[in-house]
Amino acid sequence: MDMSTSPLGLIAPRSDADWLNAHWMPFTGNRDFKSAPRWITEAKGAYYGTPDGRKIFDGLSGLWCTGLGHARSEIVQAVSRQVAQLDYAPAFQFGHPLSFELAHRITGHMPAGLNRVFFTGSGSEAADTSLKMARAYWRTKGQASKTRLIGRLKGYHGVNYGGISVGGIAANRKLYGQGVEADHLSHTQPPNGSFFHGMPPAEGVGKYAGAALADELLDLITLHDASNIAAVIVEPFSGSAGVVIPPQGYLQRLREICTAHNILLIFDEVITGFGRCGAWTGAEAFGVTPDILNFAKQITNGVQPLGGVVVRQDIYDTFMAQGGPDYMLEFPHGYTYSAHPVACAAGLATLDLLERENSVQQVRELVPHFERAVHGLRNAAHVLDIRNYGLAAGLTIASAPGEPAKRPYEIAMAMFQKGYYVRYGGDTIQLAPPFISTPAEIDSLVSALGDTLQATA
Ligand SMILES: Cc1ncc(COP(=O)(O)O)c(C=O)c1O
Repeated sequence: MDMSTSPLGLIAPRSDADWLNAHWMPFTGNRDFKSAPRWITEAKGAYYGTPDGRKIFDGLSGLWCTGLGHARSEIVQAVSRQVAQLDYAPAFQFGHPLSFELAHRITGHMPAGLNRVFFTGSGSEAADTSLKMARAYWRTKGQASKTRLIGRLKGYHGVNYGGISVGGIAANRKLYGQGVEADHLSHTQPPNGSFFHGMPPAEGVGKYAGAALADELLDLITLHDASNIAAVIVEPFSGSAGVVIPPQGYLQRLREICTAHNILLIFDEVITGFGRCGAWTGAEAFGVTPDILNFAKQITNGVQPLGGVVVRQDIYDTFMAQGGPDYMLEFPHGYTYSAHPVACAAGLATLDLLERENSVQQVRELVPHFERAVHGLRNAAHVLDIRNYGLAAGLTIASAPGEPAKRPYEIAMAMFQKGYYVRYGGDTIQLAPPFISTPAEIDSLVSALGDTLQATA
């Protein structure tokens, strides 16, 4: 597609305040955006197009969700066909075959033993669903005191009340008052200046040794007793906090402790699932199997909203066994858009492409090049640390005096002007290029970022 000549979307952007202010935008500086809007009106492959005919390289795969690139004809056709065939069906009490097919296909890519899928509409809904499932599971088993939830500093599990409660990003929690009671493990981000490539070593730096960090869970068990703890939830690697990678041995040790103390381990794989790690899941990449695994984003290549929670069969069986008469609900939970037929069609077409194009292998082959390129920014201005895993990298940016979030914002805006979309969050810049990126495109992204860092005050 030639972006410069292609038509705009059906609705042209306007600049009058009333039109702009009608939309309260999410996770956006609304006043800043509306004073100088940054429009995206089309997308193809690894690029967005703007109304003024510019091409923007998609350096974060949308929001970590469009690894296959945009406007893939197979997904476009599957979605169009499905809208015409069955645009919506009630999610409760009736079924359509696409959701069963998608669940079945998904389980084929999960670690052994995770084979029952509950669909949601987003990653946030998946997080809260998994937490409710964990509490309900123990209660159903007659262990109703096991309710306490444990998350981690820097964790991101979406924006619903359960998710922000176990989450560990202050900016997403501090405005909202009382949440769900939760404890937090330390984060696993090594000190600035570590510049580890991939996973930090098991011995880490200072307190950041893998096993020692995980052993903090033992302290929480001593404090609360395992009879009161339902679950531990972590991202295999944290994306939104700026790509924080677990040290070697950390996830293994968490798994050992959870198993020994009868605590469910939940992996939030909303970013790490379906290819970004160079494996189908972070669980597979890191060699640790949770009891419950959450996914969203890449499952539909971002084309339709869809998330889900995959559990061990015995968790599902426990609910079924204790469900009362067959016509009763075993788990009174679900969303109007759980397993939406059009989202399932997008999911099936996405899995077809991920399998056919061997995307996991494609990512694995690109990783060494990506890793070399991003670590080439080590000596660039303002860069305090760089972390990477799979096709994801985070750079910690030195704060402008008193304004930790300002420089990353300025860098991201300057990058957009140059034709590159990257994400800024807190004191970090985050990169997650599409799986279909070429080495030359990675080089061009990183080189533009290097120039921008140098040019930033
Ligand atoms: C690990 C993780 N969990 C949950 C979410 C929330 O997903 P959503 O924005 O679809 O609700 C995200 C989004 O970035 C995420 O990275």
